[in-house]
Amino acid sequence: MPRPAIDLFRETFGTTPRAAASAPGRVNLIGEHTDYNGGPVLPIAIAQRTSAAVGPGRDGDAGVLEAISTRYPQVVRVKWQEELPKGWAAYVAGVLRELWALEVLPPDGPVRVAVASDLPVGAGLASSAALSLAVAKALAPSLNPRQIAGVAFRAEHDHVGVRCGVMDQTISALGKRDHAVLLECASLEAKQIPFSARLLLVDTGVRHDLSAGGLNQRRAECEAAVKRLKVELPELVWLASWPAEWLPRLKRALREPLRSRAVHVVSETARTRFGAQLLQQGKLKRFGELLYESHESCRRLYECSSPELDTIVSVAKRAGALGARLTGAGWGGAAIVLLSKRDNKTIPAIQRAYERVYGKTPLVSEVKASAGAHTERL
Ligand code: GLA
Repeated sequence: MPRPAIDLFRETFGTTPRAAASAPGRVNLIGEHTDYNGGPVLPIAIAQRTSAAVGPGRDGDAGVLEAISTRYPQVVRVKWQEELPKGWAAYVAGVLRELWALEVLPPDGPVRVAVASDLPVGAGLASSAALSLAVAKALAPSLNPRQIAGVAFRAEHDHVGVRCGVMDQTISALGKRDHAVLLECASLEAKQIPFSARLLLVDTGVRHDLSAGGLNQRRAECEAAVKRLKVELPELVWLASWPAEWLPRLKRALREPLRSRAVHVVSETARTRFGAQLLQQGKLKRFGELLYESHESCRRLYECSSPELDTIVSVAKRAGALGARLTGAGWGGAAIVLLSKRDNKTIPAIQRAYERVYGKTPLVSEVKASAGAHTERL
């Protein structure tokens, strides 16, 4: 098995790392933009992973982080408590700060980190969560998966400043082969649901930067919607808790664009819980229909799709795929397509149509629900 993070550590620092771990990216089957609204999500961990090798820094380098990755082969050197580096190493520094707050790391420990990944960045596959998880797991192998997910979430949310929800870090920690996880993000209750259907990932190649992108804006809109809806229902804490049967009342209470954003969150919440039930009953066809409905809601109401994603989804539908939708935050990135066992039409149909419209071939791969974060042998 290739061990590029460990090799990179040795080549860069001239010593053997003390520990190593890896963590997967994810695709979300359904439940988009519900996590930070206290609703459910239904993601799987995928086979593509990020690995981190870690070890102590030089004596006398108190409080210094030295970090390198195969993707950015320039050593970043910062005092991790005083300064948050720019770019990818900010996630690493965020993890160090969180582990320090938990008293797992000493405050002035010099740390070296080498990272390697086969996850594309900005493709909507949660590469940043995989990075934070892998580093946290390597540095603190004794923390349990929930704790590791919490460290990685706070690194990204509190330190880097991406107003993400808990989905990406949680599935990267809890993922299990041939299973999706139904995660209720308000209570953090998680349930493993068997999932081994044929699933395609179609990468548009259009990249987004979440810390600068629309996620923060959507989150602010959802908060504004909750504030207004509290007039109707003072107990309301999470937008996703608004009762689905009260949609007419919600529509009367909110103006656009808050109305559309809130209708998406409330209806996506119902779809996701229903979708998990359908998967458990093996009703893949009906589950696929929910994926199309979810995409339509993301496109029309949450306005987080892109023309490339819409092309993939509508071509998949015409070709007879069971379901398709954007996955992750949207605004580019990737779509998923659910296929029946014998479907041999959808892949060529998507490739042909995409080439015709955009003049390039999208990256199409089959994904399987895979294991979550774990330590690696040295
Ligand atoms: C990004 C965030 C997640 C989630 C999705 C949208 O991937 O990191 O927490 O909010 O967007 O569902």
